[in-house]
Amino acid sequence: MTGNQYLLAGQSSELDRLQLQARVWEPAGRRLLADIGEGRGARALDVGCGAMGWLRVLSEWVGPDGEVVGTDIDDGMLSTADQFVAAEELRNVALMKDDLFASDLQPESFDLVHARFQMSPLGRAQEQMESYVRLVRPGGVIVLEDLDIGSWHFNPPPTPALDELIARLRDVFEQWADPHVGRRHPELFRSFDIEASVRADVQALPPGHPYLWLPFQFAAGLDGALRSLMDAEKLEQLKAQAETELQQPNRWGTTFTLLQSWGRRAK
Ligand SMILES: C[S@@+](CC[C@H](N)C(=O)[O-])C[C@H]1O[C@@H](n2cnc3c(N)ncnc32)[C@H](O)[C@@H]1O
Repeated sequence: MTGNQYLLAGQSSELDRLQLQARVWEPAGRRLLADIGEGRGARALDVGCGAMGWLRVLSEWVGPDGEVVGTDIDDGMLSTADQFVAAEELRNVALMKDDLFASDLQPESFDLVHARFQMSPLGRAQEQMESYVRLVRPGGVIVLEDLDIGSWHFNPPPTPALDELIARLRDVFEQWADPHVGRRHPELFRSFDIEASVRADVQALPPGHPYLWLPFQFAAGLDGALRSLMDAEKLEQLKAQAETELQQPNRWGTTFTLLQSWGRRAK
């Protein structure tokens, strides 16, 4: 694992993927915030919000008297997020460019700090957690969301090419990122003296759901990394066979597991 840069940076397909993904997981975000409690009037931060992230769910949670700040290091992400915020008329949301490893944000100024799919791709969990703990106020909440790919299946079996494509993607994630960090969230929280609660969410995707195409979106974005692990011709054959499997009538699937962990900084 050598990751410290976002492997999928600078790709226009990545903006579409992130918006689709953000929409798919919004209900899980709302359920988690309902568990955390009342948010009206709070100041919340979505670190590395990407093209949409949790901006809408946080905007609803804090209400008109609250404030949401979305940050990202990437101008393209911020400009897409800005269009989304304007189209949705999210008046309590502000966006700013900020590097989470050298943040210009005021320490201890947020009631809630959320970071989704930040630790898995960047792979600097300890430093990332230090940054979130610094930004949240004493007694405030930190929310981490990362994935466990164990439940990522296409049904009915067998789907050998789709399974193989996911296995090769996992190889890429293991080499350049930290795909298992979600399973270590509670230990990470504990190392900052925070006791974490964990929720897990898997969705069943019906035939035709656009999120079924996620392996191909990843494969397009990670083409160079995949080619460094396998022969280019074999990769093309694998993708073509996987596409044929996905296009079978009634092909449905389950997502990876979204691991949602949260805890309060001591007062
Ligand atoms: C996998 S995306 C997740 C986006 C969003 N959180 C979501 O769940 O839809 C990772 C995001 O982190 C951003 N990012 C990468 N390095 C960063 C850094 N050092 N500081 C802030 N954001 C960063 C990327 O630009 C990208 O938008």
